[in-house]
Amino acid sequence: MGAIKDLTVPDLGGATEVVVIELLVKPGDKVKADTSVVTLESDKATMEIPAGEEGVVKQLKVKVGSKVGMGAVLMTLETAGAAATAEKSKPAAAEPAQTTPAKQASSTPQKPASPASEEEEDEEQGSGDVHAGPGVRRLAREFGIDLSNLRGTGPKQRVLKEDLQSFVKTKLASSSEGGATFGGLAPAPLIDFTQFGQTEIEELSRIQKISGKNLHRNWVSIPHVTQFGEADITELEAYRQRHKARFEKEKIKLTPLVFIMKAVVDALRQFPQFNASLDPKGENLILKKYFHIGVAVDTPNGLVVPVVRNVDQKRIRALAQELAQLSEKARNKQLTPGDMQGGCFSISSLGGIGGTAFTPIINAPEVAILGVSKAAQKPIYQDGGFIPRLMLPLSLSYDHRVIDGAQAARFIVYLSELLGDIRHLLL
Ligand code: COA
Repeated sequence: MGAIKDLTVPDLGGATEVVVIELLVKPGDKVKADTSVVTLESDKATMEIPAGEEGVVKQLKVKVGSKVGMGAVLMTLETAGAAATAEKSKPAAAEPAQTTPAKQASSTPQKPASPASEEEEDEEQGSGDVHAGPGVRRLAREFGIDLSNLRGTGPKQRVLKEDLQSFVKTKLASSSEGGATFGGLAPAPLIDFTQFGQTEIEELSRIQKISGKNLHRNWVSIPHVTQFGEADITELEAYRQRHKARFEKEKIKLTPLVFIMKAVVDALRQFPQFNASLDPKGENLILKKYFHIGVAVDTPNGLVVPVVRNVDQKRIRALAQELAQLSEKARNKQLTPGDMQGGCFSISSLGGIGGTAFTPIINAPEVAILGVSKAAQKPIYQDGGFIPRLMLPLSLSYDHRVIDGAQAARFIVYLSELLGDIRHLLL
């Protein structure tokens, strides 16, 4: 039988008292000399205490939360094969797991201090079956995260710092904007896709990273409803075709979008709650008396939404010119933050591409956005028969806290009537 030895707290490098924050073993566990058995924490550093000798853990003398000083007994070990004289072991070396390591006991062979970020060097099999280095364990403790809830992406499913970071990000995203989360979002699955086939990593553009965060926030924080509708733009299109060539001579592209912008402004006048923002407390509506319209522009680097100001005061020609300039600026990455501020309502037009309908995400703090899809000839029943009409699909997403369904339906019907009668837009 081996000797029973006390494992004691080593020289703490100046600290008089440390807290036991983790017990990594239990009685009966077999340990090697370098197995970490306890994690201690001072106000400057976290340190893992190795067993110091090979053997079996007999009895724990401290609990998580115990405050101990140098020389205090942490546990007893039955050492393997040593002489059966109960002798107090020399204090074991502390293995600092943080960049401000505590001074180590001088009499015991020491491992080099390993900064928390260098997880490869200090992998430990800790409590439970979770593989993680002390740096990751310390971070997890600080955030109160149970590592067994994470799926490690390191070798042997070891939990890496990156795994912890993405876990925290997912949690934050699921609980942001306050309110109940109904149990929170399940963490996104961490999958190594190479197990299914070849892959390639492509970083998101700067715009995608920024707009992605905003889109996500808007999507989860605004109760969206999308109202669909159709406008008969047969007359509007005939008008546009008649004038297109003349505009082209002046290098102005006349597309349906400028007419839609004009119609939207008219509808915003008629339904002022669409030209509004909720105050931060969600108690008041800030009604705007100006008409600045954001237009989503697709660029090779991602989606941007420059704002055309005072659309109510501009004629079709000026609007077409300005829209062309803004989208050119957007595609050349020349938009300034000011070009993208102050919008009242946004339009996202995919009409030049195709598709029949979509659900645009509201551009907070606005309360509604109009999606426009590609106009198509459709048989419309009129006066006892079907006639071909050019129909423009509209998708109006609105903030249901501010706008109710009936208002949204009225808005889209009104907008469709305006677009259906070109005189309204030109007068
Ligand atoms: N139905 C049918 N045809 C349409 C149309 C519609 N709703 N909207 C545009 N078109 C036509 C135009 O008339 C033009 O054809 P033409 O030259 O024969 O007249 C062609 O499609 C291309 O138009 P486009 O260059 O797209 O001009 P636009 O004024 O409609 O749109 C932008 C300008 C900047 C908004 C557009 O180029 C763009 O970037 N759209 C993408 C927006 C986006 O990505 N939104 C994100 C969704 S979440």
